[in-house]
Amino acid sequence: MTKSPIGGNRTGRKLGQKVKKGKLKASSRRWLERHINDPYVQRAQLEGYRARAAFKLLEIDEKHKILSGARRIIDLGAAPGSWSQIAAKVTKSTDADPRVAAIDFLEMDPIPGVNFLQLDFLDPEAPERLKEGIGGEPDLVLSDMAAPTTGHRQTDHLRTMHLCEVAAYFAVDVLAEGGHFLAKTFQGGTERDLLNMLKQNFRQVVHVKPASSRAESVEMFLLAKGFKGRRAVEGEEAAEDAATE
Ligand SMILES: C[S@@+](CC[C@H](N)C(=O)[O-])C[C@H]1O[C@@H](n2cnc3c(N)ncnc32)[C@H](O)[C@@H]1O
Repeated sequence: MTKSPIGGNRTGRKLGQKVKKGKLKASSRRWLERHINDPYVQRAQLEGYRARAAFKLLEIDEKHKILSGARRIIDLGAAPGSWSQIAAKVTKSTDADPRVAAIDFLEMDPIPGVNFLQLDFLDPEAPERLKEGIGGEPDLVLSDMAAPTTGHRQTDHLRTMHLCEVAAYFAVDVLAEGGHFLAKTFQGGTERDLLNMLKQNFRQVVHVKPASSRAESVEMFLLAKGFKGRRAVEGEEAAEDAATE
């Protein structure tokens, strides 16, 4: 079970620490204070995860059971690597038999069993190279991709939504039947066409906001469970076409 770190601090570091006023800008000081006082950051350090984001995936899994039984996983927007660490563990991936493929345009320190590709996911070569990276259909496609911020909120929002949409079409293209897709999105941001496409291809589509996703953040996750399989959906579409002709 994922224990909530709130109220408990097992790293030995005190919460509620202040950063001295000095050379830092007020906004940077606020960020640093929030970071060092964040119980999820402290717990990530304690448990050997590279990022507090690990707990978002673990909390979602606790409720929706997407990790158990996954044999191959693709991780989009993987750096610094906490989701890939979890993916490698659940798939028992090794360098000799890699079952996790991950991509980010930033560098990522190697993780045993993770085939990492440093490339923009929007590069036309990315889908094929990711597929090659695990030698079989994945049961789970994860995307924690967030577009680099420009300072213009609407632009940032649209760019991340675009990444979510491209990731969703990629998932439908590669997933094994029964597989799941989890992607970062924004509150109120998922386009109706994208939701319809996912509902057509998956048995269940829900939005989730894990406790470790900061309350003040508009971040949400879109979870599509139980991929119906490419042939099943093609069959449904053909039947619909025949009915309307
Ligand atoms: C929130 S971080 C991911 C954290 C990660 N899930 C973890 O557990 O460590 C989002 C990542 O998405 C990556 N990203 C954003 N756009 C991308 C793109 N077009 N292609 C590849 N990676 C991208 C960023 O570089 C960033 O490292």
